[in-house]
Amino acid sequence: MIGRLALGLTGLAVAAFAQATDGSIFVQRCAVCHLETAKGSPGFVPPLTDTLGYYVAADGGRAYLAQIVTYGLSGPITVAGVPYNATMVLYTPLSDQEAADALNYVLTRFDRKSLPARFDPFTAREVHDARQEKLSALQMHAKRQLLLDELSRIGKHR
Ligand code: HEC
Repeated sequence: MIGRLALGLTGLAVAAFAQATDGSIFVQRCAVCHLETAKGSPGFVPPLTDTLGYYVAADGGRAYLAQIVTYGLSGPITVAGVPYNATMVLYTPLSDQEAADALNYVLTRFDRKSLPARFDPFTAREVHDARQEKLSALQMHAKRQLLLDELSRIGKHR
């Protein structure tokens, strides 16, 4: 009986891990715009390849990532030298766990080079906490600018 239960729980843990790493949430909810390769479309949708890991090292950078998959982003930005001026909208909200899964997948799959050596994956709890701050897509844009200032101050240009 106890053995059964333990086996069942192991199965659950494995299922949760597989969900977090197989990229299904990214493919379903992000790839429609950023593409499955996360390369985006130059001038229209920015790439998420080797450009996001730097945020993880900045103060507030993890919250920015958790909030962007909640509130989107609107306004002129430059990513890898290419200008964009579009709006990211998530019409159907992601659950805390789905948001964590999408971020962990994109960061570990496409942003290894820019990711700090010691990266603690996002949890549903961390996303939940970041979501307590209510922001608009325009406020996200201001937040992004502050983060980039912070990154150049600590010498992490991107
Ligand atoms: C409807 C299309 C669309 C969807 C869906 C979408 N994005 Fe975006 N995303 C964009 C656009 C467009 C921008 C740039 C907005 C701008 O120009 O200000 C962007 C910007 C971003 C940025 C900011 C990049 C940077 O360098 O600061 C991140 C991070 C991001 N998206 C991650 C995601 C993730 C993860 C998902 C899935 C949960 C997702 N996006 C879903 C269109 C989308």
